[in-house]
Amino acid sequence: MAPFIATTSAPVNIACIKYWGKRDTKLILPTNSSLSVTLDQDHLRSTTTSRADPSFEKDRLWLNGVEEDIKAGGRMATCISEMKRMRKELVEDVDASAPPLSTFSVHIASYNNFPTAAGLASSASGFAALTASLAALYVLPSPPTTLSLIARQGSGSACRSLLGGFVAWNAGTLPSGLDSHAVQVAPETHWPDIHALICVVSDTKKGTSSTSGMQRTVETSALLQHRIKHVVPQRMTDISAAILARDFDRFAEITMADSNQFHAVALDTAPPIFYMNDVSRAIIAVVEEYNRVALLPENGGKRKAAYTYDAGPNAVIYAQAANLKEIINMIAYYFPQQDAFKDPFDLFKGAGVGE
Ligand code: ADP
Ligand code: DP6
Ligand code: CO
Repeated sequence: MAPFIATTSAPVNIACIKYWGKRDTKLILPTNSSLSVTLDQDHLRSTTTSRADPSFEKDRLWLNGVEEDIKAGGRMATCISEMKRMRKELVEDVDASAPPLSTFSVHIASYNNFPTAAGLASSASGFAALTASLAALYVLPSPPTTLSLIARQGSGSACRSLLGGFVAWNAGTLPSGLDSHAVQVAPETHWPDIHALICVVSDTKKGTSSTSGMQRTVETSALLQHRIKHVVPQRMTDISAAILARDFDRFAEITMADSNQFHAVALDTAPPIFYMNDVSRAIIAVVEEYNRVALLPENGGKRKAAYTYDAGPNAVIYAQAANLKEIINMIAYYFPQQDAFKDPFDLFKGAGVGE
């Protein structure tokens, strides 16, 4: 009998409108909708291999070569059991000749080709790759939107990595969470001119995980309540319109404002959470000055770069192709590295969206 094995990879996505806060911590239902760009190149990906075999005694997971405990009732266990349930209902119950993989334990090995738990969305690519790999192993007929409902229960941001391009995660209203899934706002081909520069300020594991940080924010921040009710809904509408119109200036304005409000909400948490460091803030200052000059009427009057920071110190700068080289040179000039670079492009794990 051939082995039952499948390997799949998934990219990270970097949010422009940030998810931060759960209304249901078990199902991972968010307090607000969010919107991100899925990176389409190979620099930041999780690659996951799943194998089912009747001889395996229990489900096991290795992350970057180190075995991780799969806690009963935890997120990983939930994703695996949901996928087994789908295998049974959608394949084995309708085709008596299908191998009973839902009754076998699985061994899963996943590798990230970038820093794990450093604020570069490893939980997003990680749980998206896990879900996609089990879907391939189980030969599920399910579309990415359905799989995003399962990935969401591993890590909220993971639901957005199952779709490419510009992706919204609608918060939804149903207690079951069935309407809380990813939706593609536009494919990458709609706006291939937009690129993401990843500036690795620190590759160490963050002090406060996204999961515990956002829970503390929900419990203590009054500013979060204002953000959820009065800020995010309008921004979701406005940034979707900017994307559809390929209006980089407006896209940049909203993206930077939302990154800053997310970090303000982290600071409004008790005790406060600091994800950015001095280098992160210096990058903000450089990009703000760059945009101030770009906004002068004689220079075209439009922003040329948009920074955004997830729950960590690392910057992602969105820009259009024509300005990339200039931005990379500027960052390399202000943030020289210890090692000399022949080509400033080496500074970045540059990840483009579209070709
Ligand atoms: P990040 O900013 O990198 O998303 P989080 O605090 O949200 O950091 O999540 C990090 C956690 O996500 C890791 O400790 C691990 O439990 C999980 N994770 C990361 N990569 C993978 C992967 N490839 N497969 C499964 N789980 C992963
Ligand atoms: C700042 O998806 O990592 O990156 O659902 O608890 O796993 P859990 O949290 P996670 O949070 C991501 C927060 C963010 C913003 C975003 O990606 O939208
Ligand atoms: Co994460």
